[in-house]
Amino acid sequence: MKIHLKMRFFSILGASLLLNFLGGRLTEAHTPAATAAATAAQATPVFRLDGGNSTYAFGVNERGELQPLYWGGRLGAHDNIPAAHSFPEAASFDSPYTTTPQEYASWGAGLFTEPALKITFADGNRDVVLKFVRATPSGPQSLDVLLKDISREIYVTLRYSMDAESGILARSASIENKEKQAVLVEQAAAAQWTLPPARYALSYLTGRWAGEWTLNQEPIAGGERVIESRRGTTGHQANPWFAISRDDSHAGGGPIVAGEEHGEVWFGALAWSGSWRFTIEKTQLDAVRVTGGFNPFDFGYKLPPGEHLDTPIFYGGYSDHGLGGASRLLHRFEIAHILPQAPDPKPRPVIYNSWEATEFRVDEAGQEAIAEKAASIGVNRFVMDDGWFGQRKDDHAGLGDWYVNSEKFPHGLKPLIDKVHSLGMDFGLWVEPEMVNPNSDLYRKHPEWVLNFPGRPRSESRNQLVLNLARPEVRDYIFGFLDKLLTENDIAFLKWDYNRNWSEPGWDQVPADEQKRVYVEFIRNLYAILAELRKKHPKVEIESCSGGGGRVDLGILRYTDEVWPSDNTDPFDRLAMQDGFSYAYTPQIMMAWVTDSPHWLNFRATSLAYRMLSSMQGSLGIGANLNKWNAEDFATAKRLIAAYHAVQPTIVRGDLYRLISPRGGSEFSVTETVARDKNQAVVFAFTQATQEGRGLPLLQLEGLDPDAEYKLSFIEGQARPDTPVSASGAWWMRHGIDLDLRGDFRAAAFQLDRQH
Ligand code: GLA
Repeated sequence: MKIHLKMRFFSILGASLLLNFLGGRLTEAHTPAATAAATAAQATPVFRLDGGNSTYAFGVNERGELQPLYWGGRLGAHDNIPAAHSFPEAASFDSPYTTTPQEYASWGAGLFTEPALKITFADGNRDVVLKFVRATPSGPQSLDVLLKDISREIYVTLRYSMDAESGILARSASIENKEKQAVLVEQAAAAQWTLPPARYALSYLTGRWAGEWTLNQEPIAGGERVIESRRGTTGHQANPWFAISRDDSHAGGGPIVAGEEHGEVWFGALAWSGSWRFTIEKTQLDAVRVTGGFNPFDFGYKLPPGEHLDTPIFYGGYSDHGLGGASRLLHRFEIAHILPQAPDPKPRPVIYNSWEATEFRVDEAGQEAIAEKAASIGVNRFVMDDGWFGQRKDDHAGLGDWYVNSEKFPHGLKPLIDKVHSLGMDFGLWVEPEMVNPNSDLYRKHPEWVLNFPGRPRSESRNQLVLNLARPEVRDYIFGFLDKLLTENDIAFLKWDYNRNWSEPGWDQVPADEQKRVYVEFIRNLYAILAELRKKHPKVEIESCSGGGGRVDLGILRYTDEVWPSDNTDPFDRLAMQDGFSYAYTPQIMMAWVTDSPHWLNFRATSLAYRMLSSMQGSLGIGANLNKWNAEDFATAKRLIAAYHAVQPTIVRGDLYRLISPRGGSEFSVTETVARDKNQAVVFAFTQATQEGRGLPLLQLEGLDPDAEYKLSFIEGQARPDTPVSASGAWWMRHGIDLDLRGDFRAAAFQLDRQH
């Protein structure tokens, strides 16, 4: 059957999906051969998605390949995007198959750029050439595009879904094998993003344990820049987020810069908590492509006939307000669409966590004593960290044995939990479900449950091994003990930790050619356990922790309410980490504890007010040893926790402006967050070892309503005496405010409230 369509237009809630057939014909069961045979005179389909301030378009070229056409600021509703035309051969060395950008390039024909898909067939064939079959709207702003190899029964469905508000596009692929024999998928990206030739800067996040969230910025030059994790998990070392800024301020040369509040930015984040890879490539024709998804390193997913492999989702968005605009879009999107309590996640309770105070030395009396002190300063949730279970005295034993240690808690957890409740707080508990110490009952019973290659060493890290969650019995064991723990105890919160990366990732329970599926099945089972737990215990909230920020990504964030960004709680180091973190993730999920001074990591001494203000930029927690606090400390903390509660919704849900970055040896750091309704702004300012008497520069605020009147009140510190108590948004943004802040590790914070 043939359908004759001039134009179909779907529009809902400001987003539109336009299937523009440009007067051409599209057969419903369009065979690749027929598409390939289409003559140049016959117009080919163009697909357009609009949302927020962005437009994304791609089309089918005359050879039947799916080709990107446009990604950027929103185009006019009636603008016609010209049909796709493949690029010519660039010398005999680069065939049109490699010069033509593709939406999802398969390795085959003469492709030399990064492929999205690479497959080996049972007969040894490794050539895959995908052609367009059909496009089907899957929702008002969503589209499924079916591609097929030119001769083999390999089908790829590309999924597109545009968010009406943010213009963030969700892309993923599903690879289906309808051949008679199994195939081996060796590379499977979630999506490829293409930008036309121009001068660009790349921003990305790297780090290490206790040093996560370093923002790197560099010009995109010829060749490839790879950021990845081969660790079986997201990793501290790089985070699956990127931003590409267009630099047109120096068209004739000069350094390539990324603007914080101006200029075009394209960004993306991968929703996957396993090994991942981004390849940012400037091709021989100067186009820029980002390919991201499963890490192809050691990858090999055996796909039996009739089965399919779904990739994670790769989200991409666009802002013309610089990196600041890009992160504000992402923050809103995470809150509205990713987090388990989306679109309206509760502000995080102010927590107390025992780890830095008591480490493994937890017991009933000790925890109850600290809980009393925590309650007295306004803490809402008391979390007992590591040490409460099995034979856990240090990190050499106990992981895997999730029964309550009867020496430390002779009457179980109930007395402590009851005490915490009586103090007006809810109770949270630390677990590390995917791990086992060789010195544990679980390991003695099931040594075969860990990732390992039989007959080979089992490399330990922190004296522990990784349980192979891909095994159904391990998945059931983990779900079982967590379910029991949550059923038998009144627990409101789990801190879910994960303190090492994979080694020797063998899975000898399945045939040799299926063992590499562990990279996918492990993570799927992790997500399945989290989903099932949340379903069965809907009131329980969960934190993703991995020795700090080793597992933070949009995949785990669908199941966890918050994350632990770093084990490094030094308040000054945290400023730079929080700055980096905020490029990709909302402050709503960014837990930040106030701990002891001098700090254990670098012996830096800071005032309690400085430490409090550093942490108050995210979701506040206290991790200090309250047994060592004096009356003044308690009074300061109580006052600032009360102030925090009053402005927390603005801080964690508002629009963040990084007014002065602490990066690059800056003497200052300033953030401002403006409530969505512009009724309130909260500003945090810090100095670090200012020199030559220099004071904090004049602060010109952002994002206020220029015509509204705002009243100034200080949370900590003060302004110059001649600062008005109340002035217009225009005044605070243009005239600005002088805090007269200088010296070592000083901090101030104030709020502006709209006067009605
Ligand atoms: C990890 C976490 C810490 C703490 C310890 C406990 O390092 O990041 O916050 O929970 O484990 O062993």
